[in-house]
Amino acid sequence: MSPLPYAIDSPAPRAAGRVGLRVIAPRDANRLRELLTQNRAWLEPWEASYPGGGNAVPGSAPLRPMIRQLRRQQRAGQSISFVMTLDGAVVGQLSVSDISGGALRSASIGYWVSRHAAGQNITPTAVAMAVDLCFAELRLHRIEICIRPENAASLRVVEKLGMRFEGRRSHYIYIDGGWRDHDSFAVTVEDVPEGMLARWESRGGMLPTSRAQ
Ligand SMILES: CC(C)(COP(=O)(O)OP(=O)(O)OC[C@H]1O[C@@H](n2cnc3c(N)ncnc32)[C@H](O)[C@@H]1OP(=O)(O)O)[C@@H](O)C(=O)NCCC(=O)NCCS
Repeated sequence: MSPLPYAIDSPAPRAAGRVGLRVIAPRDANRLRELLTQNRAWLEPWEASYPGGGNAVPGSAPLRPMIRQLRRQQRAGQSISFVMTLDGAVVGQLSVSDISGGALRSASIGYWVSRHAAGQNITPTAVAMAVDLCFAELRLHRIEICIRPENAASLRVVEKLGMRFEGRRSHYIYIDGGWRDHDSFAVTVEDVPEGMLARWESRGGMLPTSRAQ
């Protein structure tokens, strides 16, 4: 059963400059497999996995069934999985998960970008679009991002977006063979009356609109 008391339409693709965000589709399987395989060492220290092992190593699970499962979770209103694009090419993933209804109306965002595309403000731009989508289309009230304190690159993402530090969760998520502490960062609707992307843009965070610029 959906945690929200209303149906969620599949969000339309969004774009800001060269960065795009669209719902994951079965046609993304081959590209994602390629990226996950190439980026195994890059992702492993930060990717959630299952205690006891299994198909948890990035890129090791069959991608098409996984995408179908992600689409089922979307239809059930539990989570929405996106691909992040640069100039139309898939370069990473972003998920809105743990969608809660009731008096919470909240969700968590997670993300990764391929190493070859890192350092171009792709993730903060995609997160800003995802937060706006969550507030406007899903009618959520709070978005959280949890990050290992050792993950300097990801901490920069939330810092650049001005998300609020809300404390440390001890031994919170199973990653890379152990239960890892995570720092929690949040934004609520009240924090961004102008919208997250508009605020990010006003801080000069966007990529130029084309390679030529
Ligand atoms: C964290 C991550 C998503 C950031 O994505 P991004 O699109 O590169 O984000 P940004 O462009 O804002 O870069 C953030 C920081 O990464 C660092 N960075 C930039 N290029 C880098 C590179 N090639 N290698 C390592 N770190 C780099 C910089 O410190 C940068 O901060 P700066 O802009 O102040 O210089 C990406 O590094 C990644 O996918 N890492 C592996 C998976 C992961 O950590 N996921 C998040 C789990 S919470």
